[in-house]
Amino acid sequence: MYLEVKDIRKSYGENGSYTEVLRGITTGVEKGHMCVIQGPSGSGKSTFLNCIGGLDPLDSGSIRVNGTEIAGLSQEALSDYRRENLGFVFQFYNLVPDLTVKENIQVCEYLTKEALDMEELLETLGLRQHRDKFPSQLSGGQQQRCAIARALIKNPKLLLCDEPTGALDSGTSKDILILLEEINKKYGTTMLIVTHNNSIKDMVHKVIVMKDGQVSREYRNESRVPAAELEDL
Ligand SMILES: Nc1ncnc2c1ncn2[C@@H]1O[C@H](COP(=O)(O)OP(=O)(O)OP(=O)(O)O)[C@@H](O)[C@H]1O
Ligand SMILES: [Mg+2]
Repeated sequence: MYLEVKDIRKSYGENGSYTEVLRGITTGVEKGHMCVIQGPSGSGKSTFLNCIGGLDPLDSGSIRVNGTEIAGLSQEALSDYRRENLGFVFQFYNLVPDLTVKENIQVCEYLTKEALDMEELLETLGLRQHRDKFPSQLSGGQQQRCAIARALIKNPKLLLCDEPTGALDSGTSKDILILLEEINKKYGTTMLIVTHNNSIKDMVHKVIVMKDGQVSREYRNESRVPAAELEDL
């Protein structure tokens, strides 16, 4: 298993406002697999992704990524882990407002020696003509595509995507999913994709369904549908 999660727990607040958001999650994803995480709003999907990304500390439990335990790592070790392994597409983009599209992507390009080709990525994501604009000058979908380009440019081993197609129309969503599928095939990138869209699960290897901070169901998808053939995006 590339990702091994054992009985993780995570809560916010204290005393009166204390809520346990992740309530004992145990699961795993194989190397090179794409996995969809589904579940109602508030079920803990983003929190789960943030914990795997080393952005949110756990209360207890274990998260191993390619054999390395990340729970309990120092801040410095965590940033090394993120730099060396991770691409992150956030639910709310998190672009740097004072940097242009190209500069936002470049920030991550410098993190690796084996970056993907900038021009090719700008072209694939339909950002070529927007490259010199600032995030405030972009539509939601364009910002989302910029966030995806930023996560992909350093060709990460593990890609965590929180609603990567949430703000996109159906055609653009399909283009993005085809791109993710190509990258998965070409580089063996392990991917976790949180989505409310019920079609995306058909293209991935595994589905995890969350409910109230727990895994309510998980299964392997034995008959994958190519992204290009997905309907109802
Ligand atoms: N920083 C925080 N402080 C306090 N509570 C939080 C914090 N972040 C998340 N929560 C709570 O944790 C629960 C799970 O939130 P989370 O964002 O993980 O849900 P989600 O499944 O991603 O939902 P959505 O589909 O709406 O994005 C929610 O009840 C939320 O209010
Ligand atoms: Mg969320």
